[in-house]
This record gives sequence, structure tokens and C-alpha cells, in this order.
Amino acid sequence: MDEEIARAVEEVIRTRRTSLLVDQDQPVDPGVVQRLIGSAIWAPNHKRTWPWRFTVLTGDARRRLGEAFAAVGEELDMDPIKVEKQRTKYLRSPVVVLVWVTGDPSEVRRREDRDATAAAVQNLLLAATANGLASYWATISDDFYPAARELAGLDENHDFVALVYLGHPSTAVAVPPRPVPDVAWLS
Ligand SMILES: Cc1cc2nc3c(=O)[nH]c(=O)nc-3n(C[C@H](O)[C@H](O)[C@H](O)COP(=O)(O)O)c2cc1C
Repeated sequence: MDEEIARAVEEVIRTRRTSLLVDQDQPVDPGVVQRLIGSAIWAPNHKRTWPWRFTVLTGDARRRLGEAFAAVGEELDMDPIKVEKQRTKYLRSPVVVLVWVTGDPSEVRRREDRDATAAAVQNLLLAATANGLASYWATISDDFYPAARELAGLDENHDFVALVYLGHPSTAVAVPPRPVPDVAWLS
């Protein structure tokens, strides 16, 4: 790989930011989303278990996710303000991707598969950045896992890893400084 490409890759890594400052009315080309997922799956994966699964939510499916979570919140007597927020939360970006990891009887394999899937999520975010899209890795309450699985049509053998918002950026995001990493060199 030549020097220019190497610098461009590093630039993408360093400029990716968690951002929901997106144009809600500008759809993301489904072909692009498919390509980002196609890049995500090039993550390293011990034993080649291919443990990741993706659910892409657009249009009304985003509202159905929020309604499903709000129903769970009501059932569990969660703070009503938070419950109401759930209803519209996932409409903030035109695309929401749920990322799952399949289960494995071995604890070691489960851990490695989750690590591999987290690496796939980062690939997805970097590919989004490279394609000029804003992205945002979010998590959801454990209480919502069953409802999310039901909407996605997945069984209990799938663990939630990430909810990724994707959209065309409406505003540039400032890059905050990162602390210097703690690195020990041994020789
Ligand atoms: C496993 C994981 C879960 C995250 N969940 C949330 C979340 O629920 N809400 C949120 O605002 N950010 C979430 N983030 C994003 C971080 O807050 C964000 O990466 C951090 O603030 C650093 O900002 P940057 O990504 O722009 O460098 C999550 C990140 C990771 C890796």
C-alpha cells in the first residue's frame, strides 16, 4: 500500500466521530449501507465463526423499535419521560443498524466472538466515515434486548452488541483531544 493510502486510512481512523448531527431528511443509499456491512465483516475472527448478524432499520421500522422499547418501559414502570423519549429516539437518523453476535457453548469462544463483532462494528464506523457519513455507536438497556430480538426476528442465541445510527452529516463535529496512550516498550 502506498504512503498516500496509508495516510488516508489513518485520517479516516482519526477523524471518525460519534455524531448524531445528521440530516434526518436525506436518505442513505441502501447500496452504501450494504457495502459498509460488507466491509464490517472483514474484521479478524478467531476460528472463522462469522458470528456477526446485522439488522438494518429504515423508515417505519425505526419507529416500531422505539414503540416496542416504550412498551417495555411502561411495563417496567420506567421514568415516563424516558419512556416517551424511546418512541422517537430512533427516528433521529435515517438508518439504524443493530449488530448482534451469535452465541457459542464455549465461554472462550463467546468472548472472542464478541471481540470480533466489536471489531466489525468499528469497521462499519470507519467505512461510514470514509463514505462521508456520520455514525454513532450506542447501546441499549438489557431490558430491551428481548423486544429488539423480536423485532429483528432473532432467537435468544443472539446477543446485542451495538446500535449504530447512520446518516449524512448536517454539521461538522469538533475533534476533542485524546489522552496520550499508556504504552510500555520492552526489549
Ligand atoms: C460499546 C460502546 C457503547 C457505546 N454506547 C454509547 C451510548 O449508549 N451512548 C452514547 O452517547 N455513546 C455511546 N458510545 C460512544 C462513546 O460515547 C464515544 O465513542 C465516546 O464518547 C468517544 O467519542 P468518539 O467516538 O467521537 O471518539 C459507545 C461506544 C462504545 C464503544
